[in-house]
Order: sequence, then structure tokens, then C-alpha cells
Amino acid sequence: MDQREQFSTKLGFILTAAGSAIGLGAIWKFPYIAGQNGGGAFLIIFLLFTIILGLPLLMAEFTIGRTAQKDAISSFKHLAPGTKWYYIGALGMVTCFILLSFYSVIGGWIITYLIKAITGGLSNLDGQQFESVFNETISNPIGSLTVQFVFILFTIIVVAKGLQKGIERASSIMMPALTILFIMLVIRSVTLDGAANGISFLFQPDWSKVTSKTILEAMGQSFFTLSIGVSVMITYSSYLPKHQSLPKSALSIVGMNITIVLLAGLAIFPAVFSFGLSPDAGPVLLFNVLPTIFSQLPFGMLFFVSFLIIFLFAALTSAFSMLEIIVSVIAKGNKAKRSKASWIIGISIFIFGIPSALSFGPLNDFTIFNKTFFDLADFTVSNILMPIGSFLMAIFVSFKMKKSALFEEIKRGSKINQAIFHIWFILIRYVAPILILAVMLDVLGVW
Ligand code: PFF
Repeated sequence: MDQREQFSTKLGFILTAAGSAIGLGAIWKFPYIAGQNGGGAFLIIFLLFTIILGLPLLMAEFTIGRTAQKDAISSFKHLAPGTKWYYIGALGMVTCFILLSFYSVIGGWIITYLIKAITGGLSNLDGQQFESVFNETISNPIGSLTVQFVFILFTIIVVAKGLQKGIERASSIMMPALTILFIMLVIRSVTLDGAANGISFLFQPDWSKVTSKTILEAMGQSFFTLSIGVSVMITYSSYLPKHQSLPKSALSIVGMNITIVLLAGLAIFPAVFSFGLSPDAGPVLLFNVLPTIFSQLPFGMLFFVSFLIIFLFAALTSAFSMLEIIVSVIAKGNKAKRSKASWIIGISIFIFGIPSALSFGPLNDFTIFNKTFFDLADFTVSNILMPIGSFLMAIFVSFKMKKSALFEEIKRGSKINQAIFHIWFILIRYVAPILILAVMLDVLGVW
């Protein structure tokens, strides 16, 4: 998208920002992290963080973006000239770089499944066979690197050409389609034998499973699914016309996200328990369970292929936003620069992501701090860099920007009243920084 072009419709912006938000985080990551962290209690903590921190922070990024109308770095330079606050934007760029390097590994897995499903490689297999076909594929170094590369290639091509705006239209079909397919999956999943165990796993909190790490992971997950703390939402909202309501946009994105998270949980866990699988299988969880649920539906393969196409689309629209924020800083509206930067950065991300792709094969046993390269990259992004970015963002908005200017900006296009604005301000100025810091220090065992 060219620098100061604006979104054509209100829905256009919401869909693009929701496109960044809804992706692997809600569909792939939530079930596996919740599965490893005891289910119900994790869901509740995640929802609380999403509402208390995620929503206000999303609003904060929208406010910065629409006030400054610039990219991730220039926004801070414009609002706080001569200061170092633009490091927040730089931190966001680094975070997105690492993020896309492992995100593309999972994006590649979707492509693998899609190819296998279309070419009949998954027909007539039972659950165990699906699992072994899948595990064989992801441990094959050439195979996994190839699909990872293809995923990044799609991302580079769209960002290089500045095509994100065209994606708006596709999103308006894909998002409702994703919801419908998920509802079908949920209906199948909750009517399987033994599904009740999965439902109680998801909704009955077992607080004994909650540790300080669970809380950190739930917080990281809420930032991850909303794409906050990395200046992506600043960049997107910088294209937003003044007559659109920031609070409404933020609310609808949070609402869509929570809906997809709940649908994903309800589709996966009943099936996991019904098929006798383990909810803490890790990153492979979704990929092991999905084909078996689909195989139990009439026209299962057809629906499975449709699901994979939409899932790939959702993952790609998130990936676009990660590359976009880096490229928009460098290109500053210059088309030739945009293309060159997209290719150079995209390829560098692929190279950096190679050890993550190999973490499920040759580098499986290579661990740092007890984590594979993939897990380490994911943990660093979700549980360290995104919380730090969000913390700094909250401080910047509430201490560096004028309160009256914030109110003016948020009031444009919305009917927000002083009382609600005040609650938001308190959440951003006090609650968010203190809570983020407390959760992070708690995990380090500071108290
Ligand atoms: N929100 C995306 C997801 O849930 O898949 C991930 C993400 C995209 C995080 C873009 C951060 C970001 F800047």
C-alpha cells in the first residue's frame, strides 16, 4: 500500500487489521499452548488479559497510528522529536523479523497438508497414519525448507507489489467462510464419543496447573493474537481516515479474535480427548487432530481442502503485516525501494528461519535453555519482546502524549464519553505497565 493512501471503506480497515490479528495465533497456537497449560484456567487468564490489556493496548496503537499517520519509526519521531522513543518501532521491526522466521515454518506445514490433501496423499488414512505421515514430512529437511520458502515467497510477492489493499476484498469472503467451517468442525467435534472430557478440559479451570509461566504464556498469547506491541497496528491505522471510530474498530477485532479462539478450542479439544490423543502434544497438536475430524465428516476431504486454503490465507494475511512494517519503514512510499526491500528482507528472514524449520528434524535435539530453536524463537517473541514492546507503548502513550490530544483523536468518529476514556487511560497508564512488569518479573522469580 502506498504511504498515505487510505482505506476505501471502514470494513476495509477492520478486515486488514483483523487479517493481521487472526492467523496461526488463534487457530494453531492457542490450542497447543492451552493444551500444555491445563486448558480451562489458561483460557480464563487469556481472556482476562485480552480484555484488560489487549483491547486498551490495541486502542493505544490505533491512536498513535492515526495521530501520526506515519510508519513504525517515523510515528515516534514525529510525536516525540529528538528522543529515542522510536526504538519502540525498531524493536517492533526486530520482533517481526524473528516472528516471521518461525511463523513461516507453520505456514509451510499448511502448504504441505494442502498438497497432500489435494494429491490424495491423505485419503483413507486413520489417525495414527495421519500422524506418522505428518511427522515424517516435517522432519524431512528439504521438504520443510521448501514449503517454508514458498510461504515466505507468497508474502514477499504481495508486500513487494503493495497488494495488501487488494487482499481486503478477499478477506471479506474468507473470514466468514473460516467461521462457518469452524462451526461445522465444532459440531462434529462436540458430538464425538467422549467429547465431554474435552469440553470440560477447555471450560473447567484446574487452578492447580497455573504457574507464573502459565500466566506469562497467557499474556504473551493475548498480545500475539492481537498483533500488539510490535507497531504493526500503528502502521495499519496510519492509513485510517479520521471519521472512523477507533474504539469500535478495536472492539470488533478483539471480538472476532475471541470468537475464533473459542471455536478453535471447541473444535480441537473434544476431538483430542475422543481420539485418545494428548492435549500437550505441542506445535503438532492441530495438525494431528484436524484431518481425523474432517475424515469423520461427509465430503470430509473437500471440506478439509477448503479449510486449509482459508487457514493458509489467514496465516498469510498475518505474515504480510510482519513484513509490511519493516518494508514500510525502509520504502517510505517509494515503489522501487519497496520491492527491493521486500525481497532482501524476506530472503534474510527465510535464512534466519532455517534452524527453526529444522527443529522438527535434524535439529530436534539441539536445544538452548532446554528449548529447540523454534521454541526459543517463539518464546522470545511472544513472552519477552511483545510484552516489552507493549509495556513501552503504554508508557509512551500515557506519559509522552498529551491526554487532551489523545481524547481528541479517540473522539474523532466515535461517541466515546469522558468516563470511558478515563478508564482506558488508567488501564494504559497504570494497569498495563504494572501488570506486564509484574508478570515478567514473577516468572524470573524476583519475588
Ligand atoms: N496475530 C497473528 C496471529 O495470531 O497469528 C500473529 C502476529 C502477526 C503477531 C503480526 C504480531 C504481528 F505483528
